[in-house]
Amino acid sequence: MRKIIIDTDPGIDDTMALYVALNSPELDVIGLTTVYGNTSNIQGTENALRILQKAEMSHIQVHTGASKPLATKYIGMGGVVHGVDGQGNSNLETPDTVASKITAVEFMKNKINEFPGEITLVPIGPLTNIAELFLKYPDIDQKINEIVLMGGNALSQGNASPSAEANIKNDPESANIIFTSKTKITMVGLDVTNEVFMNASDIDEICNYGTVATNHLKVILPHYVEFLSKFYDKPGMPIHDSSAIAYLVNNNLFKTIQYPVVVETEGISRGKTWMGTSKTEDLNNPWAERSNVNICMEVESSKVIQLIKDALRNS
Ligand code: BDR
Ligand code: CA
Repeated sequence: MRKIIIDTDPGIDDTMALYVALNSPELDVIGLTTVYGNTSNIQGTENALRILQKAEMSHIQVHTGASKPLATKYIGMGGVVHGVDGQGNSNLETPDTVASKITAVEFMKNKINEFPGEITLVPIGPLTNIAELFLKYPDIDQKINEIVLMGGNALSQGNASPSAEANIKNDPESANIIFTSKTKITMVGLDVTNEVFMNASDIDEICNYGTVATNHLKVILPHYVEFLSKFYDKPGMPIHDSSAIAYLVNNNLFKTIQYPVVVETEGISRGKTWMGTSKTEDLNNPWAERSNVNICMEVESSKVIQLIKDALRNS
């Protein structure tokens, strides 16, 4: 079992991803860390606690992280997509549990030191917590097994702007810090997640499994699906965060290419993840000092959808 810490901003698709991870026997979710993004961090933390309670896994602790990006303010644009509560404005019950007193950064640091080389970080929200970890503990990147992140767009267009994907656009400065690290990074971005598109009948099937998790999804998904069906002009939704979990469960379903990545932090391309594909030896090359990132470019989408359905059917 692979030890993972999921760094999340729940979030409707985060909710699905958490249930998929919690019900994948290949994965050992040793903790959740929360970050602002789709909703405020206070609300997202409450959502994470509720998900664990519904999954009867409240022994897994939730650790609160950043409430704003490194260099800018939290602007809270996610409400349109996820509802102000991050749960489709569904007025859900307050969970019985509370977050740990150990912060997200300290929890990640403790676990990485306890299990050097074994912990995989799985950020499915803005990358602020991971950047703060690297800034506070500069050598820790070399003790992490891998970062498998949902975010970015190598060749496809953005979803938060024509150029940028939402998680990276929310905090480009943090994302840029991550891509300078020595950690092995896999980027599960829009190039593949837009291809994993669940249609109305897939969604209907999942919502009728009748488990506690899928009954929860049945309440919150309509808000998300309504927005995304209009956005993509076809009924259904792309599978962003759960695709990162699917990569962890079976990376053979994805094809990757390897290039260093620089994140644009200025102007209309703010948040764009640029691959360094040039072969010219330019000493001012902004990618020169960076390690290759494993960038997902192709996906067997029907198999990923099946993997997600299998996990949720057993939730
Ligand atoms: C990402 O942005 C958020 O809205 C989703 O939860 C996902 O992590 C997709 O661009
Ligand atoms: Ca997310």
